[in-house]
Amino acid sequence: MRFFTVFDVVENKAKQLGHTEKEMYDFFKKLKVKKKDLLIYKDNGIIPYEENILSGILSYLEMSKVELELTLGRVPSGFDEAFLKNTKEIAKLLEESMKKEEAAEGNSQKALQPPPFYSSKLGNLYNGDCLELFKVVPDASVDCIFADPPFNLDKEYDEGVSDKISFSGYLDWYFKWIDECVRVLKPGGSLFIYNIPKWNTYLSEYLYGKMNFRNWIAVDMKASLPIQNKLYPAHYSLLYYVKGEKPKTFNPQRIPLQTCPHCGKEIKDYGGYKNKMNPNGVTVSDVWSDIFPVRHKNSKNRKFNELSVKLLDRVISMSTNEGDVVLDPFGGSGTTFAVSELLGRKWIGFELGNCEIIKERLENKDKDKALFEKVYEEKNKLFPDKVKELRKKNGLWLAEDFQKGSLDENNAEDDKKAEKAVEENESDEQNIQTELKLS
Ligand SMILES: C[S@@+](CC[C@H](N)C(=O)[O-])C[C@H]1O[C@@H](n2cnc3c(N)ncnc32)[C@H](O)[C@@H]1O
Repeated sequence: MRFFTVFDVVENKAKQLGHTEKEMYDFFKKLKVKKKDLLIYKDNGIIPYEENILSGILSYLEMSKVELELTLGRVPSGFDEAFLKNTKEIAKLLEESMKKEEAAEGNSQKALQPPPFYSSKLGNLYNGDCLELFKVVPDASVDCIFADPPFNLDKEYDEGVSDKISFSGYLDWYFKWIDECVRVLKPGGSLFIYNIPKWNTYLSEYLYGKMNFRNWIAVDMKASLPIQNKLYPAHYSLLYYVKGEKPKTFNPQRIPLQTCPHCGKEIKDYGGYKNKMNPNGVTVSDVWSDIFPVRHKNSKNRKFNELSVKLLDRVISMSTNEGDVVLDPFGGSGTTFAVSELLGRKWIGFELGNCEIIKERLENKDKDKALFEKVYEEKNKLFPDKVKELRKKNGLWLAEDFQKGSLDENNAEDDKKAEKAVEENESDEQNIQTELKLS
């Protein structure tokens, strides 16, 4: 494992010295560095700024600060020029060590194709650890990867699935399977990674130079609890990258205008542009506030986290066409595979825990078909039917009005009517937002 934190390097040194934990902390105690001062550097990649802590660590490691930074795989700031002047020698050293590593690994990489746990006409589901299962996927063979890994928040999963590992252990694991994603994607293939922002900031840095950034999509978190001394977390991060310069497929997705649930008036003011609005809806932005968690027990396939059909429909429809291959290394309840089936995409799935739930879901598609229909009731429409009725009732403009040319730029009149309707209901924006969140 590579070193992600100063603590990793210290721990490794203790191992080399044959020190027990106590002996290690005793060494630092003599230098007036407390255990708690060291533990801070277990959960982040920072080099200590405090002089006594840094010098204590360096004396234990018998290293200079520059050497410590290099050990962490970083070029220390201010040393870029020296580094760049010696790239030939450094490259030679690295290539030699890589050759040795490859020789040592030898044929151990050749994995046997395991039998799938479940197969349909379009896809195969494999039960096991994604790092093992990736080995059976050929290079450049997948069009889109969607991954929703455990977030390392100590959540409950099936037996044998851990959601509480160290900071460095998580990043090491994260980057290993990400390397596999990069390998198996076709040129122009799309990668979507759903995680909490903290982990995706590290991932973004790791992916720099390997894939091209498209978007950091903020998926509005509908229910979250405040965290002490931090901003209230209100979104999940959905990182969207592409292998190569541009995506081989990008189908813009259209959603309805956001409207007030009471009067149907649009929440953003589109002013003079109303008559230019596409009747199929507005193109999706990088803030997704219309994705709701799967909470109702009738729509849930299992008790642990499960993403909505709407989210997966958007990702897959946007980045693939019929017949393309979608891969999800963390199957969970099988949402990615269920949506791939409904959209006519081929799929490959891995899941370390219970695969029986996924199999059952894919064999009984009625519930997903019904959810899918609901998604499409609202997709590619400027106003869903119910909103249209409400707007008609309140005398607000509809896309058809502009198409027919019967209602020109009657904005002022519309606005007055809508304002009155809002006043009659609960008027302020906060209430509307609360309502949207609860609906
Ligand atoms: C957050 S859930 C995915 C939920 C899924 N997106 C859905 O909509 O149902 C993560 C899943 O990854 C599985 N998992 C954890 N570690 C794994 C590994 N190393 N290989 C494969 N699956 C793993 C867990 O068992 C869990 O079901």
